[in-house]
Order: sequence, then C-alpha cells, then structure tokens
Amino acid sequence: MEQAQAKIIQAVQSFVQSKCQEDYSGHDWWHIVRVVHLSQTIAKVEQADSFIVTLAALLHDSMDEKLVSDPKKAQMQMQNFLIAQGLSVERCKQIFTIIEEISFKGGHNVKQPSSLESKIVQDADRLDAIGAIGIARVMCYSGNKGRLIHDPNKLPRENLTLAEYRNGQDTAIMHFYEKLLKLKDLMHTDYAKKLAEQRHQFMCNYLEEFYLEWDGKR
Ligand code: ADP
Ligand code: NI
Repeated sequence: MEQAQAKIIQAVQSFVQSKCQEDYSGHDWWHIVRVVHLSQTIAKVEQADSFIVTLAALLHDSMDEKLVSDPKKAQMQMQNFLIAQGLSVERCKQIFTIIEEISFKGGHNVKQPSSLESKIVQDADRLDAIGAIGIARVMCYSGNKGRLIHDPNKLPRENLTLAEYRNGQDTAIMHFYEKLLKLKDLMHTDYAKKLAEQRHQFMCNYLEEFYLEWDGKR
C-alpha cells in the first residue's frame, strides 16, 4: 500500500477509535479491529482492493441506525472528514455503498453486495458474529440491552419484520436462531465459508451443552 493511503488509513483509524470508546454492546473498537484484520486476510486471498476494504471495514459501524441517532448526519460528517483527508468523492461513494450493503437487519436488507470488496467486508463482519467471539458478543449485546440469556417459554420467531427484529422481545438464545445460525449459508467468499463452517459447528456444540446444563443433566 502506498504511503498516502497508509496515512489516510491511520487518520480514519484514529477517528473511528475516538468515536467508539463508549460502546459496550459488542460493537466496540476491538470488533472493528477484528473485522479489519479478517477483511484484509480475505482481500489478499481474493486479490481485492485492500485500501477500500480496509476503509470500509474501519467505518462499517460508524453510521449504523442502531448505534448512532442520526445516520444521515453521521455519513455527511464522515464524508467531509474523508474528503479532508484527500479521498475522492468517487472513493467515498464506493465505501458508503459497501457499508449500506453490509447490514443484516433481520434479513430485511434488500441490498446485495455489488462488488467483491463489499462481499468481503460483509463476510468478515458476519464471521465476527459467530463462533466463540459471536457467542460472547450476543451475550454482551443482550445484557447491554437488558435482555435475558434464555427463557424456555419463548420460542425463536420466524419471518420477523424489521420492527420485530429490533423490538427487544428476544433473548440471547433466541438470537442464535433468528440470526446467528443463518449466517454460515450467507457467506460469499470460499475463505469465509470455510471459517464459518467451523464457527457454526462450535455454536451448535455450545447450544447442545447449554440445554443439558439448563436441565441439570450435565
Ligand atoms: P444487523 O444490525 O445487521 O442485524 P447487528 O450489527 O445488529 O447486525 O449485529 C451485530 C451483532 O450484535 C450480532 O451479531 C449480535 O452479536 C448482536 N446483536 C444484534 N441484535 C441482537 C439481539 N437482538 N440479541 C442479541 N444480540 C444481538
Ligand atoms: Ni460490525
């Protein structure tokens, strides 16, 4: 990567890091770091544009509707910042398109990744929602929102509207069925599919153990 690009990445990194100091819902700075690293690894394998992938991964949660009160304003701020760093409007658009395409939204995001770079960042973000890290994050998110770990009287919901998906009437265990266990089949790149397979299996084992312990059988 050329020096000018490395400098932009450094600036964006500081900007994002300062913005996500106060998140305790599993969307903290270290989530961003993991997604950046995974994205870069996949970008290398897929010979994608590493600069765009890195910037999109760094910024992917910075204008999310559930994390910021005014996503449009956050995007404008971000664009001004990026342009001040010397990025072209074209590059900014490319990055914002990737970010818009990433979100799962209970399966209600109608946008499909329109570029290889978009597929890669989406894969990396979704990989961080499954496996051992994914289990930690779902518990963290649920606790942060004041929800239960599990309620045996509540069953996972199907065909959720976006409002239902966000309405808080779920437990951490329900979220496995409403989202996490669906992710392995939604991966785009071969590299991510392979990792997802292992992480998925780990979650299945975890759930099996969870129910046994819940019933006092183990
Ligand atoms: P999206 O907004 O695209 O659905 P999120 O950013 O909400 O994706 O998901 C990121 C992570 O936040 C999830 O993988 C999960 O760990 C956590 N999370 C989101 N919604 C819930 C929920 N209702 N219950 C528990 N964890 C959640
Ligand atoms: Ni994310």
